[in-house]
Amino acid sequence: MIATRLHPDKQSAAQAVAREIAELIELRSKSGKSTVLGLATGSTPLPLYAELVRLRREQGLSFRSVVTFNLDEYEGLGPTHPQSYRRFMEENLFRHLDIPATSIHIPDGLSRDAAKDCADYEAAIRAAGGIDLQILGIGRTGHVGFNEPPSPADCRTRRVHLDEVTRRDNSVFFGEPGQVPHGALTMGVATILEARRIALLAFGEAKADIVARAIKETPSAACPATWLQAHPACTFHLDAAAAKKL
Ligand code: PGA
Repeated sequence: MIATRLHPDKQSAAQAVAREIAELIELRSKSGKSTVLGLATGSTPLPLYAELVRLRREQGLSFRSVVTFNLDEYEGLGPTHPQSYRRFMEENLFRHLDIPATSIHIPDGLSRDAAKDCADYEAAIRAAGGIDLQILGIGRTGHVGFNEPPSPADCRTRRVHLDEVTRRDNSVFFGEPGQVPHGALTMGVATILEARRIALLAFGEAKADIVARAIKETPSAACPATWLQAHPACTFHLDAAAAKKL
């Protein structure tokens, strides 16, 4: 079952999830354990990343024990491309924190052997001990990561084709829709469901319909976010506008 938590605004939601992350890091590092975070890109997690950066700067929270795995990357974009997710993460989070560079993982948009690299990505997540907390956004197509419909519950990290709705929505970052890549590498639904805890963030009226579908519809590949209903510890953090249709 999906738990929902309503917040007065996205900043409050970001603070709550950042606190959850900070507590997890502190608890695990006390017993010498690393904390494995699954991270997302897009506009939704930006207030969360700003809050984590604030905790680092103002409260000295250390991220040295953190290992990260990002959900996805555009195919064809290298790490320095302005619209690559690697660059997005560097600018909005990693360069402001003290996560060791070798602990940061993002699928390689320039991969020449996607099948092998995706299998290696899965293996790296397993070798790190699995994801403790996965951060998610949700696309209007019902995608989590870039698992566009139809994505079955058992799909793994792989190469995918982006939905035209997603390409249009994400064109705000590219200037024009034609520039948005057609493909991506993404963690699979099964990969995401293996995370021990999931925090999905959704804000604003444009997400109200898909949030309601994800929570209420019978799980199916047609709306990949519905697979989250099977997860034992998944919370949707919403503002009032995104929760409007519940
Ligand atoms: P957004 O994207 O945060 O830019 O709305 C969410 C997503 O596509 O997962």
